[in-house]
Amino acid sequence: MSDYQIKGFAAYKSTYQKSVKEPEAFWDEIASENFVWQKKWDTVLDWDFSKPEVKWFEGAQLNITENCIDRHLETRGDKTAILFEPNDPSEATQHITYNELSERVNRFANVLKSNGITKGDRVCIYLPMIPELAVSVLACARIGAIHSVVFAGFSSTALSTRINDSDCKMVITSDGSYRGEKTIDLKGIVDEALQECSVVETVLVAKRINSDIQMKEGRDKWLQLELGAASAFCKPEMMDAEDPLFILYTSGSTGMPKGMVHTTAGYMVYTAYTFSNVFQYQENDVYWCTADIGWITGHSYIVYGPLANGATTVIFEGTPSYPDCGRFWAIVEKHKVNQFYTAPTAIRALAKESLDNLEGYDLSSLKVLGTVGEPINEEAWHWYDENIGKKKCPIVDTWWQTETGGILISPIPNCTETKPTYATLPLPGTQPALFDENGVELEGNNLEGSLCIKYPWPSMARTIWGNHNRYRETYFSAFPGTYFTGDGALRDGDGFYRITGRVDDVIIVSGHNLGTAPIEDAINEHPLVAESAIVGFPHDIKGSALYGYVTLKEKALSRNPDDLRLEINQMIADLIGLIAKLDKIQFTNGLPKTRSGKIMRRILRKIACGEVDNLGDISTLLNPEVVEDIKENVI
Ligand code: WTA
Repeated sequence: MSDYQIKGFAAYKSTYQKSVKEPEAFWDEIASENFVWQKKWDTVLDWDFSKPEVKWFEGAQLNITENCIDRHLETRGDKTAILFEPNDPSEATQHITYNELSERVNRFANVLKSNGITKGDRVCIYLPMIPELAVSVLACARIGAIHSVVFAGFSSTALSTRINDSDCKMVITSDGSYRGEKTIDLKGIVDEALQECSVVETVLVAKRINSDIQMKEGRDKWLQLELGAASAFCKPEMMDAEDPLFILYTSGSTGMPKGMVHTTAGYMVYTAYTFSNVFQYQENDVYWCTADIGWITGHSYIVYGPLANGATTVIFEGTPSYPDCGRFWAIVEKHKVNQFYTAPTAIRALAKESLDNLEGYDLSSLKVLGTVGEPINEEAWHWYDENIGKKKCPIVDTWWQTETGGILISPIPNCTETKPTYATLPLPGTQPALFDENGVELEGNNLEGSLCIKYPWPSMARTIWGNHNRYRETYFSAFPGTYFTGDGALRDGDGFYRITGRVDDVIIVSGHNLGTAPIEDAINEHPLVAESAIVGFPHDIKGSALYGYVTLKEKALSRNPDDLRLEINQMIADLIGLIAKLDKIQFTNGLPKTRSGKIMRRILRKIACGEVDNLGDISTLLNPEVVEDIKENVI
């Protein structure tokens, strides 16, 4: 494998310039020299953002698992591919070599086939962070089935919505999962979800917690038994470059979650290239990303990116606070982790605890620290730098999205400078731009605007499953001819980017994207609720937390408000998941509306953030009187 790692700022600059001046030649070279292809492409790139349509490496044929597994077997067969660290620190770590991973993926792929799954079928994966999660993802890719991983913290309703949206024929789950001291009945959640799903034919169940669960005759099968009967080699399916690799759902500001579709070749090339560069991974390093594979960070930077580079990647089943708040550091010491990648919410939560939690742990193996998921505040950045990196590890503040597939803006360690709260400079191949509210591109520096990307990059999502119109509307209509990210950003005097946050109705809570509309819909399902509006407000650990304004029906007057609050949060937990619960619920006599009946979230947001003296002109509202009442009763 030739080395596509950039070393030094001068190399970054020339590489970046080439990627902008001659993007096709740039990606042609990277793709040619660093991957295994069954057939080379006819064209590097074909694109039209007005349709929008983007195709990379058309005409090429490949299988991503040959790149993530098979090609390493000769030189790295005995190297650890996956280092599995269980929830319970007294349970043994598993070292899964590339040879073992190969056998497990091949067997699993044969199990999928023998259960009727073929190329193009959708398979839903609802598993905890155990090796089977990575193995099942790769097994799907081996046979060309499209995986749709659903984070195992989502409720049964959220799960069934996602299964039905993409007509999954199979669900892969486990008898349960561990989370700190608790166990969660995942199979029970699947059973409940499947009451609403008619297309699912088979449920494969991995044993993890050995609980006594119901197996539905003819539908449910124990994974371990199936694997035992499967052969250890499965020929990789040849995939076209633009064949879908996976669907991953992300919240929009309105309506259903969006099933972002990622395709094979471009996604592989870009995640591999950025993994190598952003983390400056060296052959014998141990890399650990604490995300869940249920999110894009886990797909791109636990599974595909690291494995395509023949890396050792850690999969951690537990939580940062079990059995105590030193767990992350115990794992860093135990496995001599070299690159550590986590989210600002985890950093803030750990920074709140005593530094005693770090006491005695040797963190000297660390070389690079990463953060992702939301803007990192200055205090958390410095805590991370001083206490974890001991001021010798560059912090890569990586900005990207489910839709972008891979990291687009980030420092490269020892190449580009770091600057607290800044994602800094675009990676090669990324052409960011800022636009003002009139749709005019802002030229020059020291500016703030809506962040857009002007040119395609290989790992961009190609569509929303079953709804290309929505894809166009959401990403390509606000600023015609460019991809709109939904984020605001500023560009400083050095051209460094700082992401300022979402400019739409998506709120990021503990690094999870939550659309306001689905949560409001869930609240409105409560029989005593008339209407509701959700806004975000600053929170020490979560970054943002949710504040709900709820207008009740008259019948509710006799009820205890705290009971109603509990019921509303239960409603949200049932319909979406615990991650979407509200921190504060204020009951109101009405919600401020424009004359056309639109709820003025801007005013509600300011009140929730304590900026009550700064509400602007409210005289044009349909019902300005409700604002006084809301201000007086703010929580
Ligand atoms: C936010 C996660 C500031 C941003 C990979 C984006 C960030 C959304 C950063 C995507 C960062 C992600 N600094 N904000 N380094 N990284 N975001 O789809 O608002 O879960 O649009 O993908 O998270 O979240 P998603």
